[in-house]
Amino acid sequence: MIFDDLRAIQSQYGYLPAEQLQELSRVSGTPLYRIHGVADFFPHFHLSRPPKVRMNVCTDMSCHLLGAGDLKGSLEQRFRGMSDKDVKVGDVSCLGQCDGAPAVSINDHIYRSVTTAQAEALVLTALGGSELPEMPPSDEKPGQLASDPYPGVERYGALRGLVVTRDWDGVIAKLKASGLSGLGGAGFPTGMKWEIVRKEREPIKYVVCNADESEPGTIKDRFIMQHLPHLLVEGMTIAGLVTGAQKGILYLRHEYGLQEHILEHEIRHCYKEGLLGENILGSGLGFELELFISPGGYICGEESALIEAIEGKRAEPRNKPPFPVVQGVFHKPTALNNVETFANVPQILVNGVDWYKSRGLGGAAGLKFVGISGDVRNPGVFEIPMGLPMSEVIYNLAGGIVGGKKLKAFAPSGPSSGYLPASQVEVRLDFKSLAAIGSMLGSGAIVVCAEGRCMLDMALNAVKFFRNESCGKCVPCRMGSQKMVDILTGWTHGKGTAADMVLIDDLTEALKLTSICGLGQFAHSPLSSVLLHFRDEIEAHVYSHRCPEGVCPMREVYA
Ligand SMILES: Cc1cc2nc3c(=O)[nH]c(=O)nc-3n(C[C@H](O)[C@H](O)[C@H](O)COP(=O)(O)O)c2cc1C
Ligand code: SF4
Ligand code: FES
Repeated sequence: MIFDDLRAIQSQYGYLPAEQLQELSRVSGTPLYRIHGVADFFPHFHLSRPPKVRMNVCTDMSCHLLGAGDLKGSLEQRFRGMSDKDVKVGDVSCLGQCDGAPAVSINDHIYRSVTTAQAEALVLTALGGSELPEMPPSDEKPGQLASDPYPGVERYGALRGLVVTRDWDGVIAKLKASGLSGLGGAGFPTGMKWEIVRKEREPIKYVVCNADESEPGTIKDRFIMQHLPHLLVEGMTIAGLVTGAQKGILYLRHEYGLQEHILEHEIRHCYKEGLLGENILGSGLGFELELFISPGGYICGEESALIEAIEGKRAEPRNKPPFPVVQGVFHKPTALNNVETFANVPQILVNGVDWYKSRGLGGAAGLKFVGISGDVRNPGVFEIPMGLPMSEVIYNLAGGIVGGKKLKAFAPSGPSSGYLPASQVEVRLDFKSLAAIGSMLGSGAIVVCAEGRCMLDMALNAVKFFRNESCGKCVPCRMGSQKMVDILTGWTHGKGTAADMVLIDDLTEALKLTSICGLGQFAHSPLSSVLLHFRDEIEAHVYSHRCPEGVCPMREVYA
C-alpha cells in the first residue's frame, strides 16, 4: 500500500526525499508521477524537509471563537527572530478538539485549550530535542449511556443472535421501520442502503465506516469511538453479514490516536473471542475488519473521495452515479456509513424498533450525539433525544453562554449548516425541523456565537475553511471559494461595493449548480445564511464600511 511506504520513508527521514520517491517508484513499479501526485495531495506528507518544530494553530470556527487568531499572532511574534529551519508557526484545519479550543498541533502532537505560555513552552521543549509530552486523556466520564444496549451484560448480543437466526431480511426490515437515517450528514435511509448492497450480485463486497470527522465543530464520532467502540465494531460486522460483504474497513482520521488505540484493542478482542474472522462464533460465516488511518484532509470524508484514498489514490471525489452501493471500494458494492449510524444498529436490534422510536421527541426517532463548542460554558459531547430543542442543549447541557452574555447565533452543524439567529433557538434537533428552516442537522456539530460576535467575520472564517479544503478537482469550487474569500476579506477591510452583492449571488449559484461534491455545493452556506439572517450587519460593512460589532479590521485600514 502506497501510504504505508510513504509513511515508512517519512518516519525514517522526517520527510519524503526525492531520491527515496524515485527508489520507491523503481521498486514498486509505480510511475513516479503517481507517487508524487499522492504524496503532494495529503497534508500529512512533506515533500521538503520540515522545520525542527512545526507549530500549527487551528483557526477554524470554534478555535477562532476561543482566540486562535491571537494565539497564533503572539507565537509568530515570539519566534519571529528564529530561522525557518528551527520553528515555523502555521495554520491547520480543525483537529477534532473543538470542545478544547484553541487546539494546536506541534510536530503532530495535539494539545487542547492551549495558552500562549503553554504553546511557547512546548515549542522550546521540542527545540531542545526533548520528547513532547502526550496530551493527558480527557477526563470526560459519561456514565451509563442510553445508546448502549449492554449495561453490565454480555456485549455483542445482537450479533450472537443474528448468526443463529440468519434473518438478514429481518435486520433490513427493522432498520427501515426504525427510520434510521445516515448520521454522517446526508441522512440517507440506512436500511435502504444495506438492501441495495445486499441485492447486488457481485461476490466481493465491502463495508466501510467513515470516521474521518474533520468538519469544524464535529466531535461526536470521537466520543462514540472512545466510549462505545463495541457498538461500532458490532454494527459494522452485522452490516457485513447482512449485505454479504466479507471485509470491513474502518477509515479513521490520523489525529485520533487515542481512538485508534481503543479500536485496535476492541478489534483484537473480537478476533480472540471469535466475533470476527472467517468463522464467527462457529457459524461458518466470516467477516474481517481492519483499520485504515487517513493521510488527512476534510475532503477524505466525502464518501467517494474516501474510497479513492482507500485505493491509494488522491482523495478526489468521483462523479456520481454510480454510487458506492453499486461501485465503491475497488468498484465493488460497498455499504459505507458513519460511526454513529453503525453504533445505532445494535440498539435497534437489541431494544426493538418501538423502544428506538420512543427515544425521540416531537415525532423524531432515536437518540443523537451532538457536539457543542464555541461561546458556551460547558462545551462537549452530549447524548440527547432526537428532536430536543436547541435551547435545551445550549442553556442546560452546555451551561449557557460564557460570561453571562446573550446568544447571538448558532450553527447547528458547523460551516455546512450556516448560521441561525438566536430567535430560532427553539428549533428541534432533527432532520425535518432543521431542513424546514433552511438549515440542516448534518452531523450535529453545534457552534455557538455570543453577542458581540461579527457574523461577517464568522462567515469569512467558515468560507476560508472550505477554500482551504477544496480538493481543486472542479474549477467552480477551486476558484469560486477563493473568490468568495477575496470578496469577504475586502468587506472586512471596508472595500465592499454594491457590485459585490451581484457577484456573490452569481458565485453562489455557480457553486451550487456545478460543484461535483457537497464541499463546493455548501461552500456558500455560511455567507448565504448571514445574508439572510444578519443582512443589516453585512450591509453595514459593504455600504457604510463599518463593522457594527467593531471586530473587523476595517477601521485600522481607514485610520
Ligand atoms: C466534504 C464532505 C465531508 C464529509 N465528511 C464526512 C465525515 O467526516 N464523516 C461522515 O460520516 N460523513 C461525511 N460526509 C458524508 C459522506 O459523504 C457520506 O454521506 C456518509 O459518510 C454516509 O454515511 P451515513 O449514511 O451513515 O451518514 C462528508 C461529505 C462531504 C461532502
Ligand atoms: S466540489 Fe470542490 S471539493 Fe468537491 S470535487 Fe469539486 S473541487 Fe473537489
Ligand atoms: S479543533 Fe479547532 S475548530 Fe475544531
